[in-house]
This record gives sequence, C-alpha cells and structure tokens, in this order.
Amino acid sequence: MSKILITSALPYVNGVPHLGHMVGCLLPSDVYARFMRMMGHEVLYICGTDEHGTPSEVGALQEGMDVYDYCTKYHERHRQTYSDFHIGLDYMGRTSSEQNKELTYRIFSSLDKNGYITEKVIKQVYSITDERFLPDRYIIGTCPHCGYDKARGDQCEKCTKVLDPTDLINPRSAISGSTDIEVRETKHLYINLPKLETKLAEWIKTKEPFWPELAYSIAQKWLKEGLQERGITRDLKWGFPVNKPGYEDKVFYVWFDAPIGYIGISKQWSDEKPSERNWEDWWLGGKDVKYVQFMGKDNVPYHSITFPATLLGTGENWTFVDYLKSMSYLTFEGGKFSKSEKRGIFAEDAVKEAPADYWRYWLMSNAPESSDSSFTFELFAGAVNKDLNGVLGNFASRVLKMTASKIGEAVPAFGKLEAIDEKLIADLQEKVENYLKYMNEMEFRKALSELRAIWVDGNNYISATEPWTVIKENQERANTILNLCINLIRIYAILSYPIMPKVSEEMLSKFGLSVSDMPSLNGFKVSEEIRFFKDGHKFEVGDALFERITPEKLEEWKEKYGGAK
Ligand code: 2FM
Ligand code: ZN
Repeated sequence: MSKILITSALPYVNGVPHLGHMVGCLLPSDVYARFMRMMGHEVLYICGTDEHGTPSEVGALQEGMDVYDYCTKYHERHRQTYSDFHIGLDYMGRTSSEQNKELTYRIFSSLDKNGYITEKVIKQVYSITDERFLPDRYIIGTCPHCGYDKARGDQCEKCTKVLDPTDLINPRSAISGSTDIEVRETKHLYINLPKLETKLAEWIKTKEPFWPELAYSIAQKWLKEGLQERGITRDLKWGFPVNKPGYEDKVFYVWFDAPIGYIGISKQWSDEKPSERNWEDWWLGGKDVKYVQFMGKDNVPYHSITFPATLLGTGENWTFVDYLKSMSYLTFEGGKFSKSEKRGIFAEDAVKEAPADYWRYWLMSNAPESSDSSFTFELFAGAVNKDLNGVLGNFASRVLKMTASKIGEAVPAFGKLEAIDEKLIADLQEKVENYLKYMNEMEFRKALSELRAIWVDGNNYISATEPWTVIKENQERANTILNLCINLIRIYAILSYPIMPKVSEEMLSKFGLSVSDMPSLNGFKVSEEIRFFKDGHKFEVGDALFERITPEKLEEWKEKYGGAK
C-alpha cells in the first residue's frame, strides 16, 4: 500500500463549473481517487476554490457584496455541484483560509531569505475609467505570437504562451472595455525563476518517463524559451497582504498562493481532526508519498514550472508532483461553453436533467485526453441509450427478470463449467487486466472502452447460451448460466464503481450488498469473483438501472441549452 496524494486544480470561485471543468480535473481526479482506494492505497484527495484575484473583486462589486461573503456564497455553490456529481473529496477547502495564509507567508519568507525574491519598479497599466491598476488578466488585446484577439495580459488561452500585458497589441480594459488606459510606475516583488532554472531542469528530467506527453512538452517548451522572473504581488485589496516591510499595501498574486493552496487545504483538512490527521505526513519529507495532479492544459506551466520552482527555492523537503495529468478542452456542440451567451450545459443544471452517473460515464468515455473533444446532446443520448441502457442495464434486468420468473428471486446453483463459460472467464480476465492497467495509467478513454467491452461480453454470452431455451431441457445447465450471469452483475458493479458510484451502489443493493463489501481490485480474479454468490442468495429485481433518453427530451435540451442548429 502506498500513500497517494491527489489534487484537482482549484477552480476559480467566481465561475460556475460547466461540463468542461468537470472533465478537466474534478471528474478524472475523483475516478482516479476511487480507483486507487479500491486498489488498496491510502489516498488523500483534495480540492477547493481559488478565491483571490480581481475576478472575485469585480464579481463582489457587481453583486454589491463584501468580497469574502461573495466567495463564501460561490464556494458553497461549487461544493453543492461537486457533491451532486459524486465527487468524493476528502476535503474541499479555500485558498483564502488562515491555513493557506500561514503557508504562503512561510514559503514566501523562505524564498526571500534564500535570495530568490527581487524587487522591481515596474510600469503597470492603470485604467483611468475604472480608477484602478488593471491586473494582467484584466487587460485584453491581440496576442503577439498567434494573433488571437482576446488574449489576456497574463497568458494567451489559444497558444498557452505566457504574456506580459505590455506585449499585447491594442490593449483595453476587460472590466469596462475602455482604451483610456495608461502606464504608471509601481513597485513589485518577483520570484527569480532564472536563478532556479538549473535546479528546476534537473528536477524535470527526473520526471520524463512519468509525465504524459502533453504536460512534458509544455514544460519543456517553457524551459527552452528561457525562464523569466515572474511578479508575485499585485496592487489589489483582496488577497493576502504581503508580509514584507514596504509592501503592506499590496497582496500576493493569485497564482502565487493558489498552488500553495493544495498544502493550505491539506492543513485545513488536518486541523479539523488533528489527533487523526497530519498534513505534514503528506507534504513534508514524505518519501513514500506519490503525488498526482489533475488540471486543464492551460494550468500546466504553473504546475510544472512555477509551483515546483517556488517549492525548490524554499530548500525544504516538500512533496513534488510525480505525475501531472492534464486535459485538453471540451467543446459544446462545436463551440465554446459560455454562461453569458447561454451556450452549454453547466454542471449544476446537468445533474437536474439526468443522473450524475450518466454524465460521468459520457465525460470519462470522451475525456479530452490527447486532443479536444466535443460534447453534443446526440452523442450523450447515444451513449446513455446504447451503452448504459442497452448493454449494462439490459444485461442486468434481463438476467434478474428471467431468473426471478423462471426460478425465483434467489441465485440458482452453480454446476459444471463448459468451454464457453471457461472462455468467457478467460476473456474477461484479460479485459479486466487491461482495464486496471489503463486506469492505473490514467488512460481513461481506453479504460472505459475496455469496461464497455466487459459489459458487452456478458450480453454476448447470454445471447449465445440462451438460458431461456436451455431451461426447457436442462435445468442444471440453465442454473449455471444464470448463476454466472448474476455473478457478472456484481463484478460489473465493482468494476464500474470509480466511474458510476451510484449506479454501482444500486446494483449491489439488489443483492443486499454495499460498497464496503466490495473486494480490492488489486489482483482481481474473475475466476474467483464469479463464484461469489452461492446457491440461494436472495436478490431483488427492483427498478431498471437506466432510463432511455427520448428524442423529445433531446430536442428539449438542445433548445434550452443552445445546442439547436
Ligand atoms: O485555472 C483555474 O481555474 C485556476 N484557478 C487553477 C488553479 S490550480 C491551483 F494552482 F490552485
Ligand atoms: Zn497566442
């Protein structure tokens, strides 16, 4: 058993999560956390809201609220959405917490003491119309590298290049749209990344075989371009005031304290039950901890370069990321999700329209792992109707209904295995091993296609063995077939659990079992698990596991969420 630390990128508190956010980090991290627990590992899985920065200030202003209260309101909304999506976090924290402030101060002070902080008087954009300095992301303009016309002053979303606001062509205020902006002088603190470059490059090299190509190539690209000093303070009110004389009226930049938030949130978790939990076991000197991070691809530079460099500069023995799983984007009916344009289905609405597990299944089967993937209601309905209802749901209900009507609501006796049964078991064992391998490697699309193939095998088996015909002449053989199929339902519930935890619970409950009765997935043997239910074990046919999505429903959704042509 190992200790596995899993973090999901911390979503900005002011945004409402849509399906792209869910599949970008929360959902795959949850699937992985559930899977690793089933493999017998000790897991700490955390996330939280990223609360500092101008978007929260602007949002609070628009709603006439105090910024902290505004963040509390949206933090609760995120929490509710994740819980509705069955995201099983150990802790859902906040970057504005006292714990995070303490850690941010500690890390900053070490960097300063070790000579990695520089002071600079810089020129920064001031908006006369808005009467404030404009933080980088609140200046928009054309990217000098790729020509994208809505590039933000901190990073171009399109080509992922990190920018300085003064690089932008035709800059304007993102708050008011005003071009009445000017450059003023202001003093700020910088982290000296060039001074940390050698250490960082050495560290990255040790990670090469473990990082997915996308993350590794983004990190390499950054190194090749040469590291720049990065500003870590801002002229804002909302944030942690800088703990250095002369800078009390500034706050730390949101991207400085946000990744430290992973540690801060772990401390929040640990402070809740200090006699049982210790955040330091996970974050300091813990050689036995494997750390896996999940994030959208635009977050990769911060997690592979800036945050590790920050930790390296303290000289302390922090836990560094071992594997960085980054996702591309999910598009909605070929375009972007947009709250303001009412395009796309947002997570809190999605779970009102269909059970969370339907979304979880579709999103993980179509995870944008190596390139962007596109959500359409047609594809979603197709997967629910075909894979979930047509294959898994149909198998379970066919088997249980047939057994109940022909034999009774108890598992029939297992007899002698025939060649076709042996073949099913051997085929399944091979597929299960592939499934476990892909899940372990976080190759989610491949894992899900293997899982689907495992369900299909059950359907093919029952069609080939025809227990409804066999029962007329050979009761014993029919019993064996049905026993095997009923055992398969339990196996399917176990294997599907990381993806569809509620469906899995429902399947198990048909046999009076619960999630805590599931075996470890480590060394899972189909030949043994297929013998789990003995003769006479009671079951209930109960409700169908899935509901078909009708053509009417499909049209209604398209109309409502902007997917109509
Ligand atoms: O892109 C985002 O949504 C950021 N809020 C992610 C931060 S991840 C971590 F560093 F906090
Ligand atoms: Zn660009």
